[in-house]
Amino acid sequence: MISVGFLRNKYSRYPYLGSGDAHRLLEDSMNNHTAKRKHNIETIMEPHNMPPAFTWNDVQALKALTLCQTLPNVNTICVTGGAGFIGSWFLRNMTLAYTNYHFVCFDIFDVCSSPNNLRILEQTPNFSIFRGDIRNAEAVRQCFSQHSVDAIVHFAAQSHVDLSFDGANAFCETNVTGTVILLEAAREYGISRFIHVSTDEVYGEVLPGGSDYDETAPLHPTNPYSGSKAAAEMMVCAFSKSFGIPAIIVRSNNVYGPNQFPEKLIPKLITLVLRGEKVPLYGDGSYVRRYVYAGDIVDAFNIIFHEGEVGQTYNIGSYDEVSNIEIVKKIVRAVDIADNYQTPTVAEVDLAQWVRWTPNRPFMDRRYGVDFSKLRALGWSPKTSFEDGLRQTIDWYRQFGEEWWGDISVNLGAGKFKP
Ligand SMILES: NC(=O)c1ccc[n+]([C@@H]2O[C@H](COP(=O)([O-])OP(=O)(O)OC[C@H]3O[C@@H](n4cnc5c(N)ncnc54)[C@H](O)[C@@H]3O)[C@@H](O)[C@H]2O)c1
Repeated sequence: MISVGFLRNKYSRYPYLGSGDAHRLLEDSMNNHTAKRKHNIETIMEPHNMPPAFTWNDVQALKALTLCQTLPNVNTICVTGGAGFIGSWFLRNMTLAYTNYHFVCFDIFDVCSSPNNLRILEQTPNFSIFRGDIRNAEAVRQCFSQHSVDAIVHFAAQSHVDLSFDGANAFCETNVTGTVILLEAAREYGISRFIHVSTDEVYGEVLPGGSDYDETAPLHPTNPYSGSKAAAEMMVCAFSKSFGIPAIIVRSNNVYGPNQFPEKLIPKLITLVLRGEKVPLYGDGSYVRRYVYAGDIVDAFNIIFHEGEVGQTYNIGSYDEVSNIEIVKKIVRAVDIADNYQTPTVAEVDLAQWVRWTPNRPFMDRRYGVDFSKLRALGWSPKTSFEDGLRQTIDWYRQFGEEWWGDISVNLGAGKFKP
C-alpha cells in the first residue's frame, strides 16, 4: 500500500471577498442604493469588487440548457434562496438564457449563501436581488409588488440535515411557515406558476434491494429536515386544492457541484482533502446516496418550469449511487492525480490516514432511490457522470473554495448531536 502525503496550506490566489466583507458590502449597498440605481436596485455587486485576473468562464458551466418555449403569462420570476447553491446555479443559467424574463433573487443571505454566487449577473438588466426573509410576509409582499412577480421558484430552505436534529423548530419556521407565507402571497398576487423544491428525503429510505419510489409513493420522512420538507409539501397541496395555486412539486436526489457551501458532504470532503486533513465520516461510511450534478439539475428545473404539468410532482433522479467511503476514495485519488500531473501515487487509499470516524446521527437513512421516468418522458436525463462532475467540482474548490465564503474552517467538522 502506498500512502499519499500531499499537504496543502490555505492559500490566497485572489484578493477575494470573505463572507464578512460580502455581507458588509451588502449592508452598505442596501443603505446607499436607492438614489443611485434605476435597474437592479438591490444588486450589491460593483465592478470594483471583481477580483483581478478573474474570468467567469472558469467558474461557470453554462452547458446543455434546453431552450424551452417561454410561458406567455410569465414576465417576472421570483427565485427564493437564489444566493444559495442550487438557486444560484438556476439563476446564473436561466437569467442569461431567457432574457425576456426578469429574475428576482429573494434571499436572506444566510451563511451558506454568497453574493459571489451571483456576481456574474451584476450587469445583467433582467436580474435583481431583493434581500428578504420568507418568514416575513411584508417583505414578500413588498418584493412581489415592487417587481410585479408572476411566478415563483422556491428553493429557500434550511437545508442542512445535521443541524435539524437540534434545531427542528427553526427548520419548521423557514421550511413550513416560510412556504405558507409564499403560498399566501402567490394567492394574493395571482401567481401563474409555483415551483416548490422538495427532496427525495421525504420518501424515507429505500433499503438495499428495494424498489425506487415513484411520485405516488407515500411520504415517510425520518429526520426533522425531511419532516419539515414533507410538511411544506402538504401545505402546497392544500393551497393548490383550496385556492387553485398552480403548483408543481419537485423531489430531487442529492445535488453536488461548485458553489455548494462546504458544510455539505462532498464540498466538505474535498476541502479537507485539499487541505491535507482527515475527513469526518459517520457510522461505517457505507451509507449511499445518488448524486445529480448541479448543471444537470438546472436543466431539470428549466424543463419542469416550462413543460411540467401544474398539479403534478416530478422526481429528479440519478444513476450514480455512491457510498460515503467511496466518495472519500475518489476524492483522494482525483486530488493525487491532479497534484502529480496525471501520474497517480495512490494505489489504494489508506483510510486510517484520511478518515476520522465520528458518532452517527441519531438516525440516518441508508439509501434513497427515486424513479424519474416521469421527468424522462419530458426529455430530461442526467448528462454529467459522477466522475466528470466530481473532477470539475474538485477543480473549482481547488481554485476558489478557500476564498468564496471567507473562513469556513468552523463548518468543516462533524455534526454534534445531543443524545
Ligand atoms: N442540495 C441538495 O442536495 C438538495 C437535494 C434535494 C433538495 N434540495 C432542496 O433544494 C433547495 C435548495 O438547496 P441548496 O442545497 O441550494 O441549499 P442552500 O442551503 O445552499 O441554499 C438555501 C438558500 O436559502 C436561503 N434562505 C434560507 N432561509 C431563508 C429565509 N428565511 N428567507 C429567504 N432565504 C432563505 C439561504 O440564504 C440560501 O441562499 C432546498 O429547498 C433543499 O431542501 C437540496
